[in-house]
Amino acid sequence: MNWLLIFAVVISALLHCEAKTFTRCGLVQELRRKNFPESVMRNWVCLIEHESGRRTDIIGPPNRDGSRDHGLFQINDHLWCNDSNVPGKDCHATCAELRTDDITKACSCAMIIFRRQGFYAWYGWIDHCKGKPLPDISNC
Ligand SMILES: *[C@@H]1O[C@H](CO)[C@@H](O)[C@H](O)[C@H]1NC(C)=O
Repeated sequence: MNWLLIFAVVISALLHCEAKTFTRCGLVQELRRKNFPESVMRNWVCLIEHESGRRTDIIGPPNRDGSRDHGLFQINDHLWCNDSNVPGKDCHATCAELRTDDITKACSCAMIIFRRQGFYAWYGWIDHCKGKPLPDISNC
């Protein structure tokens, strides 16, 4: 028995539970399931690709004000989620809930942000998507 190998497999299985990287089409299918409108789907895909690389579990580096951004949509903990185990702030969520493989909570929070500020809430969108060629999802 190669215990190191078994150890490595168990560790990667554990890590896998908490981290998921969507493929582009996998992401599109998931967003369709959450009723994201088709008319701006490519904008969401572009935003997510630049914010998180389609990873669910990412925590960004500290922002200038000391806040951090969480998950697929890189949602900010200064305004939108509470970075403790008590759900709070404008999305009534813990930040950890915005970093799970089940993206239901992250999606509803992103929709709350979008309703208030549109895509302008995300620098990933402003810098890389606004007025630029958007990802091709024609085969999804
Ligand atoms: C965030 O969590 C803390 C507990 O760690 C709690 O005291 C606080 O009220 C929560 N903040 C909000 C805005 O819900």
